[in-house]
This record gives sequence, structure tokens and C-alpha cells, in this order.
Amino acid sequence: MKKLRKAVFPVAGLGTRILPATKAIPKEMLTIVDKPLIQYAVEEALEAGIEHFIFITARGKSALEDHFDIAFELEATLHARGKSKAPLAKTRLQPGSISYVRQQEPLGLGHAIWCARELIGNEPFAVLLPDDLMVGSPSCLAQMAEVHAEHGGNIICTQRIPREESGRYGIVIPEEDLGNVTRIGGMVEKPAPADAPSDMAIVGRYILEPDILSLLATQERGAGGEIQLTDALARAAAKGTSFGFNFEGRRYDCGDATGFVIANLAIAMMRPGMTGPVEDFLSARLPVAAGRAAERSHVAL
Ligand code: G1P
Repeated sequence: MKKLRKAVFPVAGLGTRILPATKAIPKEMLTIVDKPLIQYAVEEALEAGIEHFIFITARGKSALEDHFDIAFELEATLHARGKSKAPLAKTRLQPGSISYVRQQEPLGLGHAIWCARELIGNEPFAVLLPDDLMVGSPSCLAQMAEVHAEHGGNIICTQRIPREESGRYGIVIPEEDLGNVTRIGGMVEKPAPADAPSDMAIVGRYILEPDILSLLATQERGAGGEIQLTDALARAAAKGTSFGFNFEGRRYDCGDATGFVIANLAIAMMRPGMTGPVEDFLSARLPVAAGRAAERSHVAL
């Protein structure tokens, strides 16, 4: 089995659920504490041994390219002022290890992945949806890479969800419990709760065999009029080599403003030096927190 070396990051989305923040800034560049969302996904992939980072971008996304480039003026200024360059360390990847492909039209996640076909070639690859911030040790993708080395096939990260949320996710049809993974018989993109085949939702991490690319090439439009990755994966599942995997850790859905706030708080609580002040604020032990809570009822922000 070929080693997992490549990862695709679909970052072409418009971020309409978090406007106006995303009017001029890619949503993947919005920060969780002190790092843009995309950097969490890239660091997770690095931990899983990924060597080639493929970004599927669109117009208005050039800040992502700048973020992973060398900022000569900034570095020179930091140096001249005797300040540390350490915070920039993980924004610098190996020269030549990032590729950018434009998805010219917003035709869906399946189409975005298909746009990377020439760069993926004939080897397994990971897909990371940066909206889903995964916190785990080892990283979510590193856990999945281990499972892939054991089982091969398509490894799809899943999580149990309340049924009423089915319409926000791809939902899998579980077929056989194999211990650390579940063999998947099929899947449905964003079904109504009454039609959901289970409560196992697909969350934003996948390790896929390259034959999914030829299925995507012929994939018809599905939910929302888009070419859905889930529909192509459902066809691939007929081979019996698609597996659902519940990673050990927590997922933060940063697709909307509420999720962003929760993720920021959760990550801040894990940061040395920040835990105390944030905890104090949240438990309203500081007068300012109590004051703000009182203001909330009559101040529209
Ligand atoms: C995408 C997938 C969906 C999956 C979800 C996870 O949907 O199409 O199957 O459950 O990501 O975040 P999106 O959230 O991009 O609409």
C-alpha cells in the first residue's frame, strides 16, 4: 500500500454563514485565538506525515498564499527589533510542498476535490475541511493514517450527532462493526432527520483511494445542486472497502459565528497562560464579566 503523503484542503468556499467577517478575508484565515483556522488543519496534517499540501482556492483567497509564504519585511523588522520569529515557524513549509489549484466555479466539494486530480495522481490522499477544527493527541489525521495503514480503503471520519441535525451532514449507512472502524455500506448527503439512515455523521476528514477521482468525474449533481463528495463515496462504498472511524478527541464546528466563539474559548482554555483569565471571565468572577453580562440585554453589538 502506498504511503499517505498528500492532503487536499478545499478552501474555495465563500463563507456566507459568517458574513460580514468573510467579505474581504477568506474564512479559513479567521483566527482561533492567535492562529488562522487553516493553520490548525495544516499542523494536523504535518503531524500525520503529510508532505504535499494541495489547496483548492478561488478568487479572493490570496491571503492564504501569503500566509504560507516568507514575509521578508516582517522577518527583517522582527530581527532588527530583536523580537522572536518563533510564532512564524509553522507558517513556513518546505519549498515546493504547497500547490494551489483554482476551483473556477462553486460546484461543490466533490468538484473541488476533482480539480486536484492531476496533483493527486495515483496514490491515497487526505482531505481536510478546515471548518472542522479537530483537537486530538495524536492529531485526528494521524489517528486516521494509522487506521488507513491497517485497513486500506477509504477512511471517513464520523461522529454521532443528534438526529435533528442530519440535514447538516453526510450520514453513513453502517454495515459491520470491525472494532476500531465500521464498514460502511453507503451514505446520504444531508438527509431530512426522518430519512437519515443512522446517527453517524461524516465530519471533515477523509483518507481516500485515488479511484474516487474517476467516480467524481462522472458524478451527477446532488444535494443543493452541487457535485457531492458523499455521493461519489456512496458509489465507492459498494466495494466494501469504506470505513467509518470515530477519532479520539473533540471537533469544533467553525462553520458559523457561534461555533467560532466556542472554538476560541475552548482553545484559549487549553493555552498555557490563558486558561486562568478566560476561566475567571467565564465564571464571572471579575466585575467586568458581570458588567458585560448585564449590558448584554440592552446593547446591540
Ligand atoms: C461537507 C460534506 C458533508 C460533511 C460536512 C462535515 O458539508 O459535504 O458530508 O458532513 O462537510 O463538516 P458542508 O459542511 O461543506 O456543507
